Order: sequence, then C-alpha cells, then structure tokens
Amino acid sequence: MNVDIGNALDAVAQPGVSDDSLRRLDDRVAAAHDRIERGIAGEEFGYAALSLPETTDSDAIHDAVAPLADSEYVLTVGIGGSALGAATVAGALGVGDRAPVLDNVDPQSVQTTLESLPLSETAVHVVSRSGTTAETLGNFLVVREAMADAGVDWTDRTIVTTGESGPLHALANEHALPMLSVPAGVPGRFSVLSPVGLVPAAILGCDIEAVLAGGQAGRNALAPSLFDCPAYAYGAVAVALERRGAHVNAFVPYAERLEYFAEWFAQLWAESLGKDGMGQTPARALGATDQHSQLQLYRAGRHDKLITLVRPRNRSQLTIPDTEIEELAYLGDTGVGELLDAEFKATEASLAAAGQPNVRVEIDRLDASTLGELLYGMEAACILAGELLDVETFTQPAVEWGKRAARGLLGDTDAPEADAITEKEQLM
Ligand code: PA5
Repeated sequence: MNVDIGNALDAVAQPGVSDDSLRRLDDRVAAAHDRIERGIAGEEFGYAALSLPETTDSDAIHDAVAPLADSEYVLTVGIGGSALGAATVAGALGVGDRAPVLDNVDPQSVQTTLESLPLSETAVHVVSRSGTTAETLGNFLVVREAMADAGVDWTDRTIVTTGESGPLHALANEHALPMLSVPAGVPGRFSVLSPVGLVPAAILGCDIEAVLAGGQAGRNALAPSLFDCPAYAYGAVAVALERRGAHVNAFVPYAERLEYFAEWFAQLWAESLGKDGMGQTPARALGATDQHSQLQLYRAGRHDKLITLVRPRNRSQLTIPDTEIEELAYLGDTGVGELLDAEFKATEASLAAAGQPNVRVEIDRLDASTLGELLYGMEAACILAGELLDVETFTQPAVEWGKRAARGLLGDTDAPEADAITEKEQLM
C-alpha cells in the first residue's frame, strides 16, 4: 500500500498541513507507535486486532466450513462489524454476488433476499460477537424458519461465529452447529481478518491465506515514523486535517469491487473515532460514477473535507473498440481501465487545483493479498488516529446504548435506556 500526502500539504491545500507541523506530529506518531506495539505485544483489548494476520487459524476455518463447501451462496446474518467485513472481502474478491448479507431488519428486504436464494444450496453464516444483537438473532430465526419451510435442514447449512458465551453460543451448542470464535480482544469493526470476515470467502473458494499474508505485510510495514509507514501517514494526516477543519472524510475507491470497502471504512472511522466531540464524518463515493454527482461539492463546496482517493495501479484488460465517428477517435483502442485511471488523475488534479485536501492511497492490483494489506493499513491508520486524538478507539458506547434501548422497547427488562425513550414520548 502506498500513500501520497502531497495534496494535503499547505503548499497545495486549504486547509493543509505544513512540513514543520508534520515533523512535530511525527514525534507523537513515534510515541503512539510505541503504545500500539505494547498493546499488540500484551494482546490488549483492541490492539489484538493488529495480530490477527498471525493469530487467525486458516486451517480451523477450512475445517469448520468443509461441510458447506458445496454451497453456491453464503448468506451472512450479522450487523455492523459482524457483517461489513465479510461483505467487503467477498466483494473485493469478486464473489460478492454469491455472498449476500442480511444486516438490516427491513421485512421487505429480508423477504426479497430469502426469495432470491436457492436455500438448499445456501450456507448461512450467523455472526455476533456478543451473541445478543436483536437484529441478527431476529433475522436468523426468520431464516431458519424459511429453510425449514422449504424442506431444508437448516442445521446442515448453518455455521456460527460468536464469542465464548451468550444466547447465540447456546443455540449453536444446542443444535451442534459448527462454530468459530470471534477472537477475544477484537472489537467487531476490527475483526475482518478473522473468521468473522473470512468464512464466506473460504466457503466460496477464495484464497484466505493470501488475505492474511497481505495483512502480515501491513503488520511488517508498521514503523515509528509517518514518513516511513504509509498507514501512519494516512492516519496522522487525517487527524492533522481534522484539527484544521476537514471534518468530513470522503472515501472514494476507483474500483467497483471496493464499493463495500468504503462502507467498511465508514464504520471503522465513525465508530472508532467519533468520540468526545471529535471524529471525521465519513462519506462514501465511487469513482468514476460519483464524479458525475458528488465531485461538484468536493471541488467547489466548503473546504471541510479530506478526500481519500483509492485505486489499484494495475487493472484487467478491456479495450474500447475503434469507432467510425471522428470525434470519438480518442477513445478507440483505449483500455477501459486507462479511461478509469484518466478519470482518477483528472479528479485528483481538479481537487488539488481547487485547494481541496486529498490523499492518494494505492495498491498494486486488487487481489487477495493487496486487499489484506489495505484492510490492515486502514485499521492501523485508524488506531494511530485514535491515539493522536486521545479517544477510546475500541469502545462504542453510543452504539451499545441504542442496542439496549431497542431491546428494552421490545420488553427486555435488562435495558434501562428504554425508560428514557418512553419518558420522552410521554412528554410529547
Ligand atoms: O464494531 C462493533 O463493535 C459493532 O459494529 C458490532 O460489530 C455490531 O454492533 C454487532 O455486534 P455483535 O457482533 O455483538 O452482534
């Protein structure tokens, strides 16, 4: 993974970061790196995520999914960090169409998803770290009933990834379902390089070892200076820009297969850094499609954004044929990928010309290994940013409040937050 921060410097961008302030920031990056390394070595909560390329046992994943290897589709039932990683990996590796996700409880979309799948050829991967999330458990109960109604033995087609206890763990035990663990010390949004993110890809025959090897390359690239470590350069510049008014981080991959990656990044950035009145608001766009919509704002709107432009340097070959129309001669014999790269460069230059801070993140080509490196790099960037902002990167109290309150409104007596909502409703 390469990161070019040239267009975030004050010689180009407003807001921008000066060379001097970057050098000063680098002392804090060194201290943060030291803290991160200690956290990794001590397997501390959250930091343990950065050991996953080493600690994830891919053989255990293959063994657990072996009975499901004949599946045409894998339906992930989870939400947030228990769904986005799996969707991101499957999407980036080109099997996204065979790996749908139920991560919402909209009855219409649940029904449509179930009706669209041949349930006898579908594996169901139920994921919940806590094992208590109402959306996930509610959806799973609907899915298993649909399977039973279709004459499919759901216990033959289901695999569970969860923590060491909780209702989902109990249910899996009760029915002797194959079960994998959400690694201890790893919050949901940092768990992509574990069974949470890798099971659907493994069932669909993707090279999960290469994903982990790419993650390991990211691990090996951590270094105590932002000038030597692309992931830290990204995290440090994002923080420096936020302090100077870039309160939005627009993440724009120029690769369709990375569309879910932008969703995953949005969760990572928002849920980890949105604390104590700080944190950039993530926005998502897709190049080149959104050049024809959001780019207007990114170039000519408020200077309150960092625009993160992401691309693979090499792409598959597809040539635009010659045409009989002279005005279109420039397109003839051009690669479609070449056109996309021209769009990328044009956007980058256009933002720089307008003084809008942007950072270029590149991988060589999009494959399992570079995907692992990119996932790891963004997690490391986020953890570094959390250290620099001095927030609790690995907690999500606002999310937990909402989860408990929703359960309370449905009658779960162990959820006092619901009282606050009903009291407010009575006042209205
Ligand atoms: O990152 C997180 O911690 C959250 O997004 C969780 O992944 C999400 O709330 C789902 O929680 P659980 O895995 O306990 O069902």
